[in-house]
Amino acid sequence: SARYAVFGNPISHSRSPAIHAAFAAQTGEDIVYTAILAPLDGFATSVHDFIAAGGRGANVTVPFKEEAFRLAGRLTQRAELAGAVNTLIFVAPDPAAAGTPALITGDNTDGAGLLRDLEHNLGCRVAGRRVLLLGAGGAARGALGPLLAAGPAQVFIANRTAEKAAALASQFARQFASSRQAADASAQRGAAPASPAIAGGAFADLAGQSFDLVINATAASLKGEVPPLPAGVHAPGSLAYDMMYSPDGDTPFLAAARAAGAARCADGLGMLVEQAAEAFFVWRGVRPDSSAVLAALRAATH
Ligand code: ATR
Repeated sequence: SARYAVFGNPISHSRSPAIHAAFAAQTGEDIVYTAILAPLDGFATSVHDFIAAGGRGANVTVPFKEEAFRLAGRLTQRAELAGAVNTLIFVAPDPAAAGTPALITGDNTDGAGLLRDLEHNLGCRVAGRRVLLLGAGGAARGALGPLLAAGPAQVFIANRTAEKAAALASQFARQFASSRQAADASAQRGAAPASPAIAGGAFADLAGQSFDLVINATAASLKGEVPPLPAGVHAPGSLAYDMMYSPDGDTPFLAAARAAGAARCADGLGMLVEQAAEAFFVWRGVRPDSSAVLAALRAATH
């Protein structure tokens, strides 16, 4: 069997081993996927030990995604843009060339997983919509590239620390403009779709604005807290999405969103399954039936 693992701290509650076991059973891929608790100061050592033991790839979760970004010798474009790595691909050194290090590629499947969950599982098209992204940390950064590529009319990043949201917005506005310029040049066409408006600020700056999709990428739910949003932020018919998930009902953010008029609510279980499916595809070249695995997980938890 080919060996894979998820590294985190803590890790005992990770659902990734069960998700990847289900993918393997579905596709007939011969893999073993385990959870590895890395010491807070020993992530790189744990990864190298795993490679030495035959590991072919790994997922990385809290708090090691930025360290995994630095550890990787090569990064995919989406990992570079996200500034964080949740998926590692290992190429073992040639046994003939003793002493050469393993090749470690870093990828990030979180944003692709979010978009797949939104558009495929939840039927929420991002194109032309007004999107509010709450938070300006690693989770928000990972979502931004794929979100902008989906063609929203507007993305507003709101954060407790407003300066971080503004900085993230201007960085992605610049990056998006230059990547689109390159795409236009290669396509040799004049009429490209309009750029989404990207801006950032404080929660209070949201007064008087409303959005079709509100995504919580803050860590507030971990403490049972909710970002303080002005009334009217959730447009009629809008979807509220929490990257966190909770086995027992709404997260605090979703409960608040429902009370504030969000028409639909979704937690991050779908994103978890879809980022795993994307990693499985990167490693094995086979796309599992993620919707079936998500449905089974939901049935088992509710
Ligand atoms: P992650 O990788 O999960 O995004 P992070 O980089 O530490 O973690 O970022 C956490 C995010 O949650 C930040 O946007 C943070 O806001 P600040 O930039 O102002 O720190 C946000 N956050 C954490 N606790 C919060 C709370 N109680 N209310 C609102 N936002 C909170």
